[in-house]
This record gives sequence, C-alpha cells and structure tokens, in this order.
Amino acid sequence: MNDAISSLSKGKRKIRPIAIFSKRAHVKSEKEYNSIYQRSISSPEKFWEEKASELHWFRKWKRTFKWDKRKAVFSWFDGGKINASCNCLDRHLEKNADKTAIIWQGESEEQVRRLTYGELYRETCRFANVLKKKGVRKGNMVCVYLPMIPEAAIAMLACARIGAIHSVVFAGFSSEALRDRILDSKCKLLITSDGLWRAGKDVPLKDMADIALEGCNCIKHVIVVKHTSQKIKMKGKRDSYWHDEVSSRSIKDICNPAENDAEDPLFILYTSGTTGKPKGVLHTTGGYLAYVNLTFRWIFDHHDTDVYWCTADIGWITGHSYIIYGPLSNAATILMFEGTPTFPDVDRFWKIIEKFKVTVFYTAPTAIRAVAKFGEEPVKRHNLGSLRLLGTVGEPINPKTWLWYYEVVGDRRCPIVDTWWQTETGGILITPLPGASTLKPGSAGKPFPGIEPVVLGEDGKEVKADTGGYLCIRKPWPGMMRTVYGDHQKFIEAYWKRFRGFYFTGDGAKKDAEGDYWLMGRIDDVIKVSGHRIGTAEVESAIVSHEAVAEAAIVPFPHEIKGQALYAFVTLKKGVNGDNSLKEALRAHVGRETGPIAKPDKIQFVEALPKTRSGKIMRRILRLLAEGKKDVGNITTLADPSVVEEIIKGIEK
Ligand code: WTA
Repeated sequence: MNDAISSLSKGKRKIRPIAIFSKRAHVKSEKEYNSIYQRSISSPEKFWEEKASELHWFRKWKRTFKWDKRKAVFSWFDGGKINASCNCLDRHLEKNADKTAIIWQGESEEQVRRLTYGELYRETCRFANVLKKKGVRKGNMVCVYLPMIPEAAIAMLACARIGAIHSVVFAGFSSEALRDRILDSKCKLLITSDGLWRAGKDVPLKDMADIALEGCNCIKHVIVVKHTSQKIKMKGKRDSYWHDEVSSRSIKDICNPAENDAEDPLFILYTSGTTGKPKGVLHTTGGYLAYVNLTFRWIFDHHDTDVYWCTADIGWITGHSYIIYGPLSNAATILMFEGTPTFPDVDRFWKIIEKFKVTVFYTAPTAIRAVAKFGEEPVKRHNLGSLRLLGTVGEPINPKTWLWYYEVVGDRRCPIVDTWWQTETGGILITPLPGASTLKPGSAGKPFPGIEPVVLGEDGKEVKADTGGYLCIRKPWPGMMRTVYGDHQKFIEAYWKRFRGFYFTGDGAKKDAEGDYWLMGRIDDVIKVSGHRIGTAEVESAIVSHEAVAEAAIVPFPHEIKGQALYAFVTLKKGVNGDNSLKEALRAHVGRETGPIAKPDKIQFVEALPKTRSGKIMRRILRLLAEGKKDVGNITTLADPSVVEEIIKGIEK
C-alpha cells in the first residue's frame, strides 16, 4: 500500500500527487504551482500576455487589459485580431491533419463516426460557406438546437469562422424555451435535426423547433440535419437539409477565417439567475480562447496521445469550453457521446471508455451517483486501464461519491480534478492541478493561476479561514463574461453590485487554513438539479401560467441521485380540486414550458404560502419544510403563522 492510500484509510482524506503522474505533468509540483500562481497574481497582464501569445493571432493586441470598474466594462487583448475556428483547426493542419479530432459514439452502439482534424476543417469550411450563402454575416446570431452529434461542433466552429455569434440551446429545452431564446437574441438562422435519440425513443426535435418558430419572424432559414430519419415537415423556402446544402457543388472546401477583434462576441449562452428570464451570457473571442486553451491543457494535463471524454452536453458551458474550444484549440482527440450513462445498460460509460481507450474522463457528480448506485460490478466488467485522470463539475461532490469515483473507477491510480466554475466564468477557476495538488475529497482545491477568489462576509469583509461566506473574485480574468446580452445594467446588478468591485458568484464557500476551497452551494434562487442550473423564477412562472394555479413557490430538497430536486408549493384557484392528475398535468405543463429537467419531483397543494406582512414569500421556511424539518425557527413575522402547521401536515414524503 502506498503512502497516498494509507493516509486515506487513516481517514485523513488527503491524497498526494502520484509521482509518475507528476513527472510528465505540465505543472509538476505544489512548489511549481505556487511560484506560477504568485507570478500570475503579481503581474497578471504579463502572465496572460505570455499565455495568449501561444495562440494564432492575425495581429497582436494593443492593450492587454482595460477595466472601468464603475461601469463594469473591461476588455482583454483589445485591438488584437484572432479567429477561434482558425485556432481550433487551421493551425493544427500542418502537424495534425490526420489526427482524430472527434470520435463520435451514437446512442446505438454500432453508430460511430471519426473525423480527423483535416476532415473537421473541411466540413467546417463548407458549412461556413453555407452560412454565408444563407446571408449570415459577421455579428449575426445563429441558433444551434442539436443533439450531441458532430454537426453541433461543426456548426459552432463555422459560426466562429465567419464571425457570426452562436447561441446554442440545449436540445432538452422545450419549444417555449427555445422561442424565448431565439427572440431575445434575434437569431437569423436555426440549425436543428429531424429528431434525437433519448433512451431509445426518437424525440421530434424539428417538430419542436417548428412550434418555437411560430411567432419568430427573425429566423429566415432553418437547416436540418438528418439524424434519426423520422418524418418531418419541411417548410418551403425556409427549411433545407444540412446534407443537401454542404454537398452542393457551389460550396467550396475553403473558407478563409474572418479576422475578428479579440473583443468580438464569440457566443451567447442562456443561463438562469435569481430573477426573471434566463440571461444571455456573452463571451468574447480572444480572452475566452486564451483562458480555455490554457485551463484545458493544465487542468486535464493534456498530452498528444490522450483520448479525452467530457460527458456534458454541448448545450451547456462545459460543452462549449471543455468539449469544443479548450480541447480543439489544443489539438486534442475528443470523444462525443450522444447517449446517457444508464442506457441501454448501467455500464455504458465504462463500455465506451474501454472501447476507445479513453485516458481522461470528465463528468458530473450526478452521473457518478447514478451509476454508483449499481455498485462495482458494472465497472469491473470492463478494463479501464487506459484511464489516467478523472474530473467532475457542476455541483459539489460529496466525499463518499468522490471516494467511489477514485477507488472504483480510477482504481486509486487516477487523480480527480473537482473543477469549480460557472457559465459566467467561461472556464474553470478553482481546481486541483493533477500533477501538483494534494487532493481532498469534497474540496475543489486552489485557484487557477490568474484568479483571486475571496470569501466575504455579509459586511463585505474577508472572513477568517474555515468560515463560510460569499464567494467572490477580485478582478476580471480573460475568460470572464463581458455582459448580459442586451442588458448591461442587469450584468452590473447581478454580479457587481452586492460587493463593490468584486465579481459575486452566487455561491457560498469557505477556505480552509491550507488555502483549499470548499463549495457550499448556491445562496440565491438558483437550484442545481442533476448539475443543471434551474432558476426558481422560471419554473414558478411556468407553473403559474397553468389555468388552475394561483401561486407557486419552488425550493430545493436533497435528492440521492440528482443532488437537489425541485419541490413546488402551489395554491390553486378557487374551486379547483388538487388531486394527483392535476399534479401530473402541472408536471407536463412545466415540461412543455421549460423542459423535462425543470419538472418538480414533488408538488404539494397548499391553502396559502407563508408570507411576511408585506406579502413576500418566506422561501427560507419552505426550504426547511421541504427538507423535512419541522422546526423552522421564528415565524412571528409571518402574516399568518398557522399556514406553517397546515403545510407540515401535507408534506410529500
Ligand atoms: C455549481 C457549470 C461545487 C456552482 C460549469 C456554480 C459547483 C454553478 C462546481 C454554475 C463544483 C459548478 N463544486 N459546485 N466543482 N461546479 N458548481 O453555470 O453552484 O451551469 O455557481 O456552470 O454550478 O453552474 P453552470
């Protein structure tokens, strides 16, 4: 038994870097990390200049960093000219044209596709030319509503190539959610597929897009990938098939990359916040690319021979930064998987790792819990000897799940990087570096170079070690979002107002005496369900839009697999009978309005919600009740304290 494991079994729960891993890692020791970190903080501009220089620039920037604190306006590498697709494709052609860029595993086992960098380049150029032919120009918005197929990557890269801005919408979102997002950003063109496979079922994606497009005048063209071959209706001039478009003889194999400004938008991605509708988080080109390029290389310790698999969906930020832009800008071989961890069998992940000799595996705690439930046997059925590094993202990972991942999947050989970040941050901010860091199950470790986190108390002062507080970041870094699309005021209010001059993350955290961070979950009205980010405001407004409902309040409750799930307290309109069939109807209604991931697990009909005298719903109380607590503390501020007793009687088990 080696040292690392013995300290584990003694319950110290500290795992030191593994020597053979450290030896060839990009960052080889804690000492090296410390010195890089110190340098990055004392001269951040110099640090990032050096790192950004590793990318291909048409023209070098004039000013590295500019920040107008009061207006929350900042820029990186201003005046530089760069193209993200060129950095992910063209610059690899000389050495890596024949290297596999994408291995695609379809939901059905026999469906596999491979694209080399040369092929991905050609496909991207051709599709970029199609976009141009359809009238898409620099600065136009293109919506991508696709399953996990290579065309999603090609579509994103093609947009980047011509300077169009992609807005990817998770294919699990409903027509209504898609429509809202298309309208908010006034997309010109939509890329979708006939259908998508979900656990053996052919989901009619194009039909859903058609519904979304009723009332969207901005979309002029729809390009449809034939994927499941389900029957769809094509609308005259508006719709055409991807395959027909790219194979047209008039479409050329070469499309010169646009010389975009470093601060030109690369994409927007909608995410849920505390209030109202989802916000369009806007990321720009040069800083974002420099950030994801470096974080990918160091955190996943990328080497040329790796087969890297991130199980996220392209519809989330993890898919953008650590399936597409980070890995491809490093000429990595990525695996893209269309399916889910437990279909057709609970060993699907392990089967794929064995089949393609995956070396680096990055997934979410919820997925690990979903498979850990079935024990070791499905894992042990497979030879996972190719694995050398594991990662997690999306929600706090509890030490028990961490240890299962470490021992059963990683065979105590593979470091785990528990990576903390957000849609807004563009890339990973707090994480171990696998060759350098001592790992502590449940902690996301230390800040990435260039990042200065602080834990602040209510009063805005830094709290002492081991004390919980609000996690904030001191200064903008290159990969940080620039604004909320179309609403800069919202950007200021949501992120910069709570603690002046600091970026406020919305997470609670504590830092231990050794400088490692322990994330404590969201402290706002965002709930992480299976790692997906859900805003209570959205789900509440979806429920309230049902004719039977008067009012609704959504709170989280702990869930064994999902981490957190949604509990809805609902008051009904006069005369409506709250029975099980209405609960089902409400769930289906939320599914239609938002998407299946937003369906509440529990719904309780109540006579009244606990409110203050001024009419504010006391979510704190509902939260405790949903967690099964009976003692909810002081309720004398409630307009009618008796509602609490009433609710306790009907709590859903
Ligand atoms: C949570 C996902 C604990 C956190 C990349 C954050 C985490 C939110 C971790 C952002 C982690 C993400 N440990 N919590 N390693 N990673 N989170 O925008 O609450 O979908 O604020 O980005 O996920 O979710 P988002």
